Amino acid sequence: MRGLYGFLDLLTGYQGAAVLTAAWRLGVFGLLADEALTSEEVASRLRADPRSVDALLGALASLGAIERDGGRYRSSAFAREHLREGAELGLVIEKEAVFARAWLELESVVRTGRPVLAPWPERLRTEPERARSFLEALAVLARLTGPDVASLAELRTDGRILDVGGGIGPYTRALVEAGRTVVLVELPVVAVWARESLADLPGDRCEVVAADVVAEGLPPVLEGSARALVSHVLHDLEPASCVRLLDAVRRALAPGGVVVVNEFARDAAPGTFGPFFDVMMRVETGGSAYSVKELLGFLAEAGFVGPRRLEADPPITLLAATRP
Ligand SMILES: C[S@@+](CC[C@H](N)C(=O)[O-])C[C@H]1O[C@@H](n2cnc3c(N)ncnc32)[C@H](O)[C@@H]1O
Repeated sequence: MRGLYGFLDLLTGYQGAAVLTAAWRLGVFGLLADEALTSEEVASRLRADPRSVDALLGALASLGAIERDGGRYRSSAFAREHLREGAELGLVIEKEAVFARAWLELESVVRTGRPVLAPWPERLRTEPERARSFLEALAVLARLTGPDVASLAELRTDGRILDVGGGIGPYTRALVEAGRTVVLVELPVVAVWARESLADLPGDRCEVVAADVVAEGLPPVLEGSARALVSHVLHDLEPASCVRLLDAVRRALAPGGVVVVNEFARDAAPGTFGPFFDVMMRVETGGSAYSVKELLGFLAEAGFVGPRRLEADPPITLLAATRP
């Protein structure tokens, strides 16, 4: 925090997010993707208040999200690529808008230790559409910013790979498209969505199985699997459940089988990302962004040997361990 102005910048950090979210929801980026328009033209096309549109466009230009040329505006190259009407980053914008509201309750989270959002199984039951959109946003982020799992030596195998807690399947898709055979294991509601989302992949190399891995373990038919991926699942769980889930994964692997864990460790990178992600987990699920040491400890406690950190661009944190 650099002095008074640094402090004020932090305190008003919500404003940039609000400007981008409003512009996305109003359709400003789509409107300015293919033609340069004046502020009055934008206001008239959007049927919105001209003075406020003018202010919004000025703010967007100051962020570099749109460009001003004389009296006309048009979307930046980034917005043209990623923020056109129907663009997939829209899912990420809406996900963050939900969290922005939740973060305003941080004081109470810290006082009580209780997250703002309902537990995930309850969200799946009471607000399935929002839960599904959240997983779709995660799939977008996995594709755009996640690790290239198909190129990891630890996941190169002719045998079966388990994608445990795989969501709607971004990593299953990447692995199957690279020629691997994958079984995605998910809670029953999510398993239905994953099947829909992966329906275009060859059925003999891509399967979805429903199971609550913490409560029931993995189905016996999956025993003898060659590899497993556990991506962004542990940070939602308390330590005992992390160990239980990893123990179930170990038992499903053949001897010599390897598990890869993908996480954002609290200490994976310098700067605010890890610590803020840790706070995000308190707000969202009551989980934690565990440290690298804690994650390696969970793997050892679950009976894996040789827990190790793999090379990855921070804040991506990749760990691997072997079933003895
Ligand atoms: C944050 S998402 C991660 C999705 C995906 N692996 C990724 O990296 O984008 C966590 C996923 O773990 C699943 N999950 C949580 N607890 C689970 C359990 N006990 N058994 C199976 N899946 C579980 C959730 O349903 C959710 O889809």
